[in-house]
Amino acid sequence: MNKIKIAVAKGDGIGPEIMDVVLSIFDAANVPLTYEIIEMGKSFYDKGFSTGMTQEAKETVESLGVLFKGPMETPKGKGVKSINVTARKTWSTYANRRHFKSLTGVNTVFSKAGIPIDLTIVRENIEGTYGGIEHMLTQDVALCRRLISRPGSMQVHRFAFEMAKKEGFKTVTCAHKANIMKLTDGLFLDTFYEVAKDYPEISANDIIVDDLAMKLVSKPQSFELVVLTNLQGDIMSDLCAGLVGGLGFAPSANIGDQISIFEAVHGTAPDIMGKNIANPTALLLSGFMLLRHLGLMDFADKIENALLLTLEQGNHTGDFGDKSNPSLSTTEFAEKIISNLGKAPSIGLNRKSQIPSTFHLPEKPSVQKMMASSLRKQEKVTGLDLFFESQDTPQSCAEILKGFESSDVKLIMISNRGTQVWPSGSVFTECVDQYRARFELSVGKETTLKEMMDLATRISEKVFVSSIEILRYFDNNPGYSLAQGQ
Ligand code: NAI
Repeated sequence: MNKIKIAVAKGDGIGPEIMDVVLSIFDAANVPLTYEIIEMGKSFYDKGFSTGMTQEAKETVESLGVLFKGPMETPKGKGVKSINVTARKTWSTYANRRHFKSLTGVNTVFSKAGIPIDLTIVRENIEGTYGGIEHMLTQDVALCRRLISRPGSMQVHRFAFEMAKKEGFKTVTCAHKANIMKLTDGLFLDTFYEVAKDYPEISANDIIVDDLAMKLVSKPQSFELVVLTNLQGDIMSDLCAGLVGGLGFAPSANIGDQISIFEAVHGTAPDIMGKNIANPTALLLSGFMLLRHLGLMDFADKIENALLLTLEQGNHTGDFGDKSNPSLSTTEFAEKIISNLGKAPSIGLNRKSQIPSTFHLPEKPSVQKMMASSLRKQEKVTGLDLFFESQDTPQSCAEILKGFESSDVKLIMISNRGTQVWPSGSVFTECVDQYRARFELSVGKETTLKEMMDLATRISEKVFVSSIEILRYFDNNPGYSLAQGQ
């Protein structure tokens, strides 16, 4: 059998300890892989590589298409980006798949109650607040832009439905907060049902994310596959890790069309590094996702059976299991798994289906791919939202800004932290030194971008304008939300 070459980054903290034992288990099972160890992690950041990896490391991943990585420390300090998030975003690994399954020998509240858990989270991996676009608008007010795109949402929903189809999931659930964030989460939800139409055999439903949080804790067995936006998905997947015994059992795969990254959900665990006590299970489970991604199903099944038997026998590292049995070190735990290779656990694997691998080496594009919608809507400029700094009352701000009205463009409202404070509002609404003024044309009228930019420039001579948004209609729908109370 030809060996497949993959890139491996051992990572920081406990990363090298757990990666070494996982690769030793792969080798003992004769997995047909070879490894190119790449230079990536905090130490390379410290050596001056701002992305945390050398140019050779980047080229290796881009040519091999698969990175198996240990956790990496996020360098401390303002303005420093996470190496992990940079890698996921740079290589467009848009779907983060995380599988949470009860394991025999790993006691949890649910296992004790006889409730088995087997659920998968697909988290959008590029957008949302992880765009990391943040600004201080005034000394008191910080802004983080939360970008949700139609193509980005379509990609992750299609991934979830394709996975459901291939692996026999019956229901896909979209979790969101579209009741509050009508444009961003609304777009995520609309595109979910748009994609669902192509999969009539799979049941599609949705749930508000806070309701999901409650139901995951009270009835986790009622979900099979849940797709979420980035931050909501991050939080819900750590909650799910807690349901199955903690971070030591939470694997993840970051899947893109060309490049994929496999890693445990947990971090570098600096408190236990170098002690040979870390639990390698989450990284090993991520390794199974990697092997199946490459089409090495039998190898994944063989090692997974050995792991299940090892757990069933009561073997455990210090972070879980029956404390009346002594804890094993990381290496001892791996040796037990190796000694169980080829044996079957009493409760074997319950695979839904064998998934044909779609793995291929990356096809390097000559320029970045543009993923714009093909059907274009009629667009018209209808006004301006102007964000400005002031410690004056809404009424005095309005008096200044009304001086900039014209026969067509009127000051419609002023809001503070999203709540309307002028022309009507409540004196109980507490304000900060950052207002938004909305200038809008009367219904049906249209202006130009230049006119709105000129208006902003003129106003900036009177008040400090920290940011603007151009108001637009797309077909006959406003591309902006109302203020609370408007
Ligand atoms: P952490 O996941 O490293 O540790 C949280 C707690 O879980 C600690 O008590 C730790 O000892 C324990 N723990 C984690 N993994 C374990 C394992 N395999 N076996 C036994 N116990 C384990 O989270 P923390 O402390 O918030 O982050 C530490 C560093 O890791 C930070 O620099 C963070 O940015 C980075 N990080 C990296 C990630 C990645 O590379 N994908 C993911 C999460 C955090």
